[in-house]
Amino acid sequence: MEILAFGVQSDERPLIENAFAGRHEVRCLDVFLTEDTAPIAAGYEAVSTSVNADLSGAVLQTLAAGGTRMIAQRSTGFNNVDLDVAERLGLRVARVSYYSPYSVAEFAWTLAMAVNRRIIRAASRTRDFDFRLDGLLGRDMRGRTAGVIGTGKIGEAFTRIAHGFGMHLLGWDVVENPACLELGMEYVEKDRLLAEADLVSLHVPLLPSTHHLIGGEALAAMKDDAILINSSRGGLIDTRALVAELRAGRFTGVGLDVYEAEAGLFFLDKSLEGVDDDTLARLVTFPNVIVTSHQAYYTREAVGQIIEATVRNIDDYAAGRRSDSVLVPAPPVN
Ligand SMILES: NC(=O)c1ccc[n+]([C@@H]2O[C@H](COP(=O)([O-])OP(=O)(O)OC[C@H]3O[C@@H](n4cnc5c(N)ncnc54)[C@H](O)[C@@H]3O)[C@@H](O)[C@H]2O)c1
Repeated sequence: MEILAFGVQSDERPLIENAFAGRHEVRCLDVFLTEDTAPIAAGYEAVSTSVNADLSGAVLQTLAAGGTRMIAQRSTGFNNVDLDVAERLGLRVARVSYYSPYSVAEFAWTLAMAVNRRIIRAASRTRDFDFRLDGLLGRDMRGRTAGVIGTGKIGEAFTRIAHGFGMHLLGWDVVENPACLELGMEYVEKDRLLAEADLVSLHVPLLPSTHHLIGGEALAAMKDDAILINSSRGGLIDTRALVAELRAGRFTGVGLDVYEAEAGLFFLDKSLEGVDDDTLARLVTFPNVIVTSHQAYYTREAVGQIIEATVRNIDDYAAGRRSDSVLVPAPPVN
């Protein structure tokens, strides 16, 4: 089968080409799937898309009209896909149901410790031969409280590292994870978690019920000197409300790998044209904030597993097999 892969980074390209070699013909594009680029897929029965692909109803219509029948999304999150329209159009949509949760959990911790120990400021100072310590005062994690919002695969991996630091563990989720309970996590109401945690890390999916989960009220409930990390989805935080809190001088540090308006910006070089987004522009000026562009998953291990799973999803489609990675058509109800 011939497959068109959108949004392929140059590091990924050889990995994708090797994984598909001898099985399917794959054409890799660095452009992302959008309304403008969707017509390129005409004639391709299967397309593979990256995390910020626009898989809204209009784009799905264009793909279906061009003969596409299968979409293999190269991420676990699928909040970018209009599943109802896909179902109506008879498209099959599969995602990657599992890859190294350590990639994201370790990155969340990288952000947490970078803001805690002022690593960006320290490194830019030493590059200038400025060896003072003023303004670099951090804090020990041992004995502090970690608040983990969403204790699934990534939240659990994050919790294991927090346990290694010797932290108290508070969790919030709709289901309790026995592995986290075994590490000593106490599941509490969200308000208590926010009020008591020194470090709050977000690991729930973006759903209508979790959109702006961390809005003005939640931010106000947090400790003034807390650290907030979001490596899940940008829409979990009301970014304007966060900027208002930061302007008021609150929080030791904020680490964001995701941003609610990241589509059309992240993964692209905008350095020459600039960015027409005042919220993001303000966010990156705070000395206690680090913004990275959705790179938490970007390790050799995770990217390799994502590609292997994508090949399997396309093999399954070609062979007419079902798997738990298929989002649409929905599995039959027993
Ligand atoms: N930054 C990145 O590169 C990156 C990479 C992979 C995943 N992610 C994000 O991380 C999220 C978590 O991934 P995971 O593999 O741990 O998923 P998971 O399904 O294993 O865990 C999600 C957890 O959230 C809980 N949850 C779901 N809905 C909830 C709700 N309404 N309220 C409270 N809790 C709820 C679930 O019970 C589950 O324990 C993904 O949804 C994705 O958005 C980000």
